[in-house]
Amino acid sequence: MTNMIYGTAWKKEETTRLVKLAISSGFKAIDTACQPKHYREDLVGIALTNAIEDGIKRDDLFIQTKFTPISGQDLNNMPYLSSDDILTQLEKSFYTSKKNLNVDFIDSYLIHSPFSPIEDLVKVYRTMEEFVQNGEVGQIGISNCYDFKLLRYLYDIAKVKPKVIQNRFYRESSYDKEIRNFCKQKNITYQSFWSLTANPNILKSNQVQELSKKYKKSVEQIFYKFLIQINITPLNGTTSQIHMLEDLDISSFTLESLEIDSILNLL
Ligand SMILES: NC(=O)c1ccc[n+]([C@@H]2O[C@H](COP(=O)([O-])OP(=O)(O)OC[C@H]3O[C@@H](n4cnc5c(N)ncnc54)[C@H](OP(=O)(O)O)[C@@H]3O)[C@@H](O)[C@H]2O)c1
Repeated sequence: MTNMIYGTAWKKEETTRLVKLAISSGFKAIDTACQPKHYREDLVGIALTNAIEDGIKRDDLFIQTKFTPISGQDLNNMPYLSSDDILTQLEKSFYTSKKNLNVDFIDSYLIHSPFSPIEDLVKVYRTMEEFVQNGEVGQIGISNCYDFKLLRYLYDIAKVKPKVIQNRFYRESSYDKEIRNFCKQKNITYQSFWSLTANPNILKSNQVQELSKKYKKSVEQIFYKFLIQINITPLNGTTSQIHMLEDLDISSFTLESLEIDSILNLL
């Protein structure tokens, strides 16, 4: 598994070029969604196919996509009909993802956000468990789940336990401290998005600026390194190859525990 994931939202027609650039720069993990409003999953698929044709091994790639409930879709452009029952929506979305991505196996499959009624959410989760049991999916999880009780409920009823939470990492949710603690106990990977954009105060802080000088790394590199050292897997959607290369080049240093604590104090 990887410790940083390339995010493909909002890249529109540039998606194929940027995903290929990300893979050739060293990213192994790619995140997308069957949600045409924000993601061109089909163009991610072309990039993956090209990369494999160019010699990258499928097994070395980690492909993650999502089932987006109707509340997150553009009603005029979505992989299912609003009149479909919830399991047909899931089935059509999953089929579209495999077709778009040109793969039989999806490494990681997420519910894009909780939705109601809870009975439908559970039905979807149960079917996703079958995808894992049938060998079509490696692991399952949920995104935008800021309600700890809901996460714990899902975990408790699950036969195939969730392995991923993908959440916005920001002050408004208290940086998901309770959820992250649970993830640590239950061996669930916590993936963060908005890591840089929601936290300019941390990037500008004296603590991070000092570490940037000490290690001769950008503040973004320091913050990504911090996240990885506290067991968070950041999503990174940069469009710049310089940033791609810089962000992947953070294995040459390790933040000391007091330095980690100094950033933790900002959360
Ligand atoms: N599950 C969900 O609901 C959800 C929601 C939002 C996002 N996501 C996922 O998360 C991915 C990342 O999105 P995000 O909202 O977290 O933000 P992001 O796309 O990673 O954006 C980071 C911003 O910071 C800038 N930046 C400056 N220095 C950078 C550096 N060294 N490295 C990287 N970026 C740098 C980037 O500009 P440059 O392009 O110039 O580098 C960009 O504008 C998405 O593509 C998507 O896959 C998921």
